[in-house]
Formats: sequence, C-alpha cells, structure tokens
Amino acid sequence: MGQKKKILITWGLWYIGSHTATVFIENWYDVIIVDNLSNSHESALEWIKAISWKTPKFYELDLRNYSDLDAVFEKHASDIALVIHFAAKKAVWESCQDPFLYYDHNILGTINLLKVMNKHHINQIIFSSSATVYDAENLLPPFSETDKTKTTNPYGTTKLVIENLLRDMVMQKWFSAVALRYFNPIWAHPSHILWENPKWVPTNLLPFLLKVAKWEIEKLSVFGDDYETEDWTCIRDYIHVMDVAEAHYAAAKYLFDRIEINETSEMYTADPVFEICNIWTWYGKSVAEMIWIVETIVDKEIPYEIVARRPWDVAISLANPLKAKQLLNWEATRTVVQWVEDAWLYLNNEKRK
Ligand code: WQD
Repeated sequence: MGQKKKILITWGLWYIGSHTATVFIENWYDVIIVDNLSNSHESALEWIKAISWKTPKFYELDLRNYSDLDAVFEKHASDIALVIHFAAKKAVWESCQDPFLYYDHNILGTINLLKVMNKHHINQIIFSSSATVYDAENLLPPFSETDKTKTTNPYGTTKLVIENLLRDMVMQKWFSAVALRYFNPIWAHPSHILWENPKWVPTNLLPFLLKVAKWEIEKLSVFGDDYETEDWTCIRDYIHVMDVAEAHYAAAKYLFDRIEINETSEMYTADPVFEICNIWTWYGKSVAEMIWIVETIVDKEIPYEIVARRPWDVAISLANPLKAKQLLNWEATRTVVQWVEDAWLYLNNEKRK
C-alpha cells in the first residue's frame, strides 16, 4: 500500500465514525477527522485517545464548504490513502419534513468531497450507505445487494443518489468505491467510554429503551403491533457498532489489496471497482424481543405503550451478509448479550461523566 498511512474520516467524531477511527488507529493508521459537530462532541477525541492511545487530527468543518475542505486536502492529500464517508443527516422523519435540508447536506456535501478528492488524486472511498435503499415492501427478506432498490423517504433517496454517483465515477475510472449498506448499528465500544452521544433526544429504539431503563424517559412508544410478524411488531437486523467499524477496516483492506504503485510512487488501481456489501448479522429481532432482552439484562420492567405505526416503517428489514463474507472476509461476531451489556455498562460508567 506504499507509504500512505492516513485515513480521512468524515464525521469521525460521531457514533460509527468514532468507533471506526479506533479500529484504524489500532491497526497503525493515522486518522484525520473532519466533522461539523452538528450531532457529535469534540470530547469524542479524548475517548478515542483513551482507547487507542492516539489522538486523531481534527478539523471542524462542514463538507458543504468547499474551500475549507480543499484546505485540509491541500495540507494532507499526499499522505491520504483512503476516505471513509459517514457525514450525513440521517433522521427519516426529519428528511420527510425538509427534503431540501437532506439534499443540501448529504448530496452537496458528498459532491464537494468527491470533487476535492478528484482534484488531489485520492481515488478510494468507503461510503456509509443504508439498507433503507431496498424496495422492502415488495422484496422477500433477507435482501441481497442485487435486489431492487426503491426509496420511500428523502433520506433514503440521498443514499441511493450517492451510490449512483459513485458508480458513475468508477465507470469513468476516477475512483474505486465500496458502499456498505447497514441499518441499525447499536450498542457501545467494549471500553464503555464511547457510544452514540447525540445532541438531542435519540429517536432510535435502543438509545430510547435504555433511557427508559434509566428512568430518564417515562415510557417507550411501540410503533405498531399489527405487523405480519410472529409477535406483530417490526423486525430489524440490529448489529454491534464494532462489527460495523470492523467492516470498514475489511473494506479498506480489500481496496488496498487492489492498489499498485507506479514509477513515480503514485498509488493507482488498474481496474477500479464499485462494490456494494450488506453489513448485517442474519439474525433479526422484533421490537418486543428487544424490550425483553433489555429487561433481562438491566433486570427491570420497561414501561411501554402501543401507538400508531410510523408511515415509513416496514414489517421486516433483514439482509443477506454473504457477499461481505466472500469479498471482504468480514462477518459479524458479537452476540446479543454483548450488545446489551456494552450499552448498559456504558450508560452506567462513572468514568465517562
Ligand atoms: C427500529 C424499530 C421502530 C423507536 C434506521 C435509522 C435511520 C436509518 C434507517 C440508516 C422500528 C421501532 C423505534 C421507538 C419503536 N439509518 N421503534 N419505538 O427505523 O429501523 O431506521 O435505519 O440508514 O436513521 O434510525 O430504526 O431505531 O428508529 O427503529 O417502536 O421509540 O423500533 O418502529 O420497528 P429504523 P429505529
């Protein structure tokens, strides 16, 4: 892979980004983080250092600001081997209320990133995509990467547009790209000092459930108990965030293995690729099962009420992770007990406060 040992991570202080940063640092890469701190905290730098013994270089900037981004690449481009792109707004409900906001952040931000990468001859990217791009209402789960896509909300559409943009750039031989489609990464770093730390009340199931377990929120609202599943609640494929972080490392290794170095020491890929991989576990859990699992681990009853369905929810969202195993040699390894324990121990960790 030549001399380049720096990885640039957009939104590397945010949840999955910060966990991914620890994996790369522990594997002897230098990490540069760009993050606008809109839903993350600068203190994540300390936690990353506490885990991996090295503080990443950090630039506070918004990808929509081309010149700020260009300035970072001017400084570091000669050492950057790869970009991992997480930066995106990601609340489905918010995207339905304000599609412009999502197109602006997610698409304009990505176009700027790709332009700057192209200008500075950095030609490898791992993109954080989503299982929300699958035509879930008409497909039989588990979904495979070749299955039909169809989005039901602006958030999902922005992910699909970016996948298509990357595919086009790879066809023009500008880039190699791996898009990882995942959906419900949860739980915490096993050190119990790093986790999702959003700036506002979380809307995802697990953070919400644990806030109820800690009596910070009165009760959970279960969105619908009339789905065609065994216990009538929705099924999702939840996955440990460290499994997701390690999938990014596996994708990076896959891309690095394809690199060659020319006579002027420049890295290039003779045969650019665009690959999409599901990053899932195979094992779905329903909302009712998740409540039960959390109750068992925290040894408390979780108060909840059944409320109306959310308009965008589908009954079952599960994907087939076989391609990731074959292409990237990655598979999820953590168990459900580890998932819940890591998150619960994080929330009760005095060191973190
Ligand atoms: C999980 C299940 C809810 C909260 C995720 C991300 C989103 C996007 C798409 C990546 C569903 C139920 C939840 C609650 C509940 N990310 N639920 N009460 O919808 O699968 O979407 O993937 O692309 O950003 O959030 O995740 O955690 O919101 O919901 O009953 O208070 O829990 O109906 O079945 P979801 P989620």
